Amino acid sequence: MNSNTQPALNQPMQTNDPVNIDQYLEQLHADFDPVYNMLMDYQCAMMEVETRFNILNNRLSIQGEHNPIESIKSRVKSLDSIIRKLDKLHLPIEIESVEGNIKDIAGVRVVCSFADDIYRIEENFLAQEDITLIERKDYIKNPKPSGYRSLHLIIKIPIYTENGKKDMFVEVQMRTIAMDFWASLEHKLRYKKNLNPQTIEELAKELEACAEESAKLDEKMLRIRERIAADMQ
Ligand code: GTP
Ligand code: MG
Repeated sequence: MNSNTQPALNQPMQTNDPVNIDQYLEQLHADFDPVYNMLMDYQCAMMEVETRFNILNNRLSIQGEHNPIESIKSRVKSLDSIIRKLDKLHLPIEIESVEGNIKDIAGVRVVCSFADDIYRIEENFLAQEDITLIERKDYIKNPKPSGYRSLHLIIKIPIYTENGKKDMFVEVQMRTIAMDFWASLEHKLRYKKNLNPQTIEELAKELEACAEESAKLDEKMLRIRERIAADMQ
């Protein structure tokens, strides 16, 4: 992200020239280490959050009759996506712009079997002293017009680096297996640019209906599970 590159990284490099290669590496590190370190910090925060959910899953499964979490998927936003988002926000393309402006670089998606597990896990997760809730959007209680359902949290969590403690933003998305299945299918439609507008409209309507049916299925399965649990007591 440093435009003052000397020697230029896109210039052919002389081989077998120790002075040249040392210079080249020095410049390479000057350019890339800050970016690499930033991404590493987000990766640490992502791993920290993942671990908290894994621990919660184990602890809650001892108390209850099942593992509340079905799967956890995590990712650090790609450098391309970070730069595109800065550009979309009309911010200078530099590391300083990232902090405080892009809160979803570290993302953790928690997929649960049942809708009530989502809120139980959320409560236990946010009760942890070092986790601060920054933003909460409940698209399960208030689905998006598309039919999208999930619980979104932006939180801050500390990581411990060689330079001390650092609070990092992490985006958490919590959803059921059915909501996850729907979202991945709808995502495919969202990025299909070559479909004709009428087909897009038809598919969007069908997907919205699917989301409704899928929410009803989630609800039915929850009721069945509750009856099984009540019968076991
Ligand atoms: P971004 O600029 O994308 O971060 O939007 P935002 O900050 O307004 O957040 P929002 O909570 O609306 O969505 C964040 C993320 O949720 C997206 O990057 C998607 O992963 C997911 N998401 C939100 N809406 C939809 C949707 O309608 N369909 C699907 N498939 N995913 C969605
Ligand atoms: Mg986002």
